[in-house]
Amino acid sequence: MRIDILTLFPDMLTGPLDASIVGRARESGLLEVHVHDIRDWTRDKHNKVDDRPFGGGPGMVMMCQPLHDAVLAVEDKDPRRTHRMLLSPQGRRLTQDHVESLARQERLLLIAGHYEGIDERVIDALEPEEVSIGDYVLSGGELPALVLVDTIARLLPGALGHDDSAAEDSFSITDDDGTPLLDTPHYTRPRVWDNREVPEVLLSGDHGAIATWRREQQRQRTQQRRPDLREDPKD
Ligand code: ADE
Repeated sequence: MRIDILTLFPDMLTGPLDASIVGRARESGLLEVHVHDIRDWTRDKHNKVDDRPFGGGPGMVMMCQPLHDAVLAVEDKDPRRTHRMLLSPQGRRLTQDHVESLARQERLLLIAGHYEGIDERVIDALEPEEVSIGDYVLSGGELPALVLVDTIARLLPGALGHDDSAAEDSFSITDDDGTPLLDTPHYTRPRVWDNREVPEVLLSGDHGAIATWRREQQRQRTQQRRPDLREDPKD
């Protein structure tokens, strides 16, 4: 899979893309990620990429031309069709289901917005899918783009050490009625730490009893922490 990220702050992305699961997926060739500086496509003699909003108001607005040219030029670098995405607090809230469908795409192009926003006309022209990572506002779309890349990378077959790991994550596990469930608690050695013991059943070697206990823990956690998941699983 190939992901291109368009940003005004490429430095915000480089470190995290080299580390951990994403870094490994890139090294092994499962995932190709390219970061592009939108400023490289400005035609303004002062390298301007933003301007004051018509109608007044605070902050600056990203201009149409640099972003539009950047998208078309980057898309031209590879014959695979891109699925265009814009990270923005106005987008549809990201869910694990959505990430799973994105992980099946051949190529994604992520636009990280900045400043007060992007000139609406370039959004109309490019028609990206707008995605938000949650109901809070970040300074720009760079961290959300990283969130998206991370969630996708770990779903690519072979990206995680253990084949079943992603299927056993919170939200990927479902109850018999299809409700997403949170993950079970995990424990490792030592058996007793700070007077706290590992639950006995996990030491029993009884795989059936362990599976039953884990499912019960998942249900209890989901009920206590995220009752909304059961009330409206698709929200
Ligand atoms: N840009 C700023 N805030 C954002 C959010 N919550 N999700 C995606 N992009 C953003």
